[in-house]
Amino acid sequence: MPKIRFLPDGIATEVAAGTSILEAARSCGAHVGSACGGVCACSTCHVYVKAGFDELSEVQENEEDIIEKAFDVKATSRLGCQARLQADATYEVEITAESRKAFLDEHPDLR
Ligand code: FES
Repeated sequence: MPKIRFLPDGIATEVAAGTSILEAARSCGAHVGSACGGVCACSTCHVYVKAGFDELSEVQENEEDIIEKAFDVKATSRLGCQARLQADATYEVEITAESRKAFLDEHPDLR
């Protein structure tokens, strides 16, 4: 099973192959934003993939279009709602400051 650890908090979980980074975050309480509900329309799920980048599902054109709108895009950037954990690998993902802020805006009770 794919394993994933979210930075900076270090929250980790195991998920079924094919689970998206966003779905994995929701399953373990990691603070990844999802203003559009995970339909590739907002970029608030923007993360940096520190380990396992090449083991993720391929970037599709619609993800490229949306991620361009994110803040401080890097070579390791992916949208959490689009990138799927498809290999029996260990992934490490840094949640961007903007994504954490978006999550807390969506869940003010968790501030
Ligand atoms: Fe909106 Fe991923 S949650 S683009």
